[in-house]
Amino acid sequence: MEISIIPIASGKGGVGKSFLAANLAIALAKQGKQVIVADLDFGGSNLHTCLGLNNIYPGIGDFLRARNAKLKDLLVTTDEQNLKFLAGDVRSPFLANMHHSQKMRLIYNLKQLDCEYLILDLGSGSAYNTLDYFGMEQFGMIVTTTEHTSIMNMLTFFKHFAFRVIERSLPKNTFLEQNLRKSYNLSVNEEILTVRGLLDEISVIDPAVAQQAEQKWLSYRPRIVFNKCKDPNELNLLFVLENKLKHNLMLQADFFGCLPDDPSVSISFQQREALNKLIPSAEIAEDINLLADRIIRLWKQPLRNSSSLLLNNTKNIFEKRHKGLEN
Ligand SMILES: Nc1ncnc2c1ncn2[C@@H]1O[C@H](COP(=O)(O)OP(=O)(O)OP(=O)(O)O)[C@@H](O)[C@H]1O
Ligand SMILES: [Mg+2]
Repeated sequence: MEISIIPIASGKGGVGKSFLAANLAIALAKQGKQVIVADLDFGGSNLHTCLGLNNIYPGIGDFLRARNAKLKDLLVTTDEQNLKFLAGDVRSPFLANMHHSQKMRLIYNLKQLDCEYLILDLGSGSAYNTLDYFGMEQFGMIVTTTEHTSIMNMLTFFKHFAFRVIERSLPKNTFLEQNLRKSYNLSVNEEILTVRGLLDEISVIDPAVAQQAEQKWLSYRPRIVFNKCKDPNELNLLFVLENKLKHNLMLQADFFGCLPDDPSVSISFQQREALNKLIPSAEIAEDINLLADRIIRLWKQPLRNSSSLLLNNTKNIFEKRHKGLEN
């Protein structure tokens, strides 16, 4: 089975990653896809709650502790046919600080899982481990609200992600690799290091390596999903954002979806049940189904004009719903 990996990250915490991971997984499973959703938010695992499951299952921590353990033996069947759950670190404290070799073993084994969609609920922020899980796929999903702090933290996440991708594309144990980290230690009067600046510094030492690193970085195409949106006009920031991504980060991202602020989400959290199951008629449940649909059709291909398309689409949906209320 060909596997599509969908890591879900965010710069800022509490933007709705776990909620989206759980409900998107259910929506994809309902459309007949074989789905596994895994909790990789070590130290903050709560994906089980969003799925309506208890916190009792052995998971990735147990896998890492036992040399011969297999991830597939830890998959938990759910009452949603086609959906399996892989628990995080409930029984293994401090897993957020796992060793590099453990992380590489985990990444290798995650990629071997037998499913069509593997959704990874990541921790917020840009710890190395999180960046490396996000980098497992050319296409990753990043969740943000339209609030300034959330957008700024997303841009910081992307910058750290760029540095990490570039760093990992350098030949190992070379002068270049050892020197790279020195570039991060700016003196107080130096300008902040940009992605271009870092590539230029590498280029001075080895232009061919710099070019390879740049190609690697340009191959990533993250998908941005906005959450907790109260008014479609909030998305007017898309065009400025698109420019910033392109010019400051040399990044082409797709604007993939926009979910409304919806009180039914909080109810589902309080009741510890998946929203898709508890209130399937909620507007946001409908939007998550549309998002799942978009993933099935478009996940593995770049989108065109995604800023205008998302803005118009969101305005249309909002107007339709608003009119529905007035009538
Ligand atoms: N669309 C929404 N409308 C209203 N509330 C929402 C929405 N999405 C998420 N929330 C609320 O935001 C809170 C955080 O959600 P969630 O735990 O999914 O975020 P997270 O990004 O996974 O957080 P963390 O960074 O801590 O892992 C929850 O209380 C949830 O009820
Ligand atoms: Mg979470």
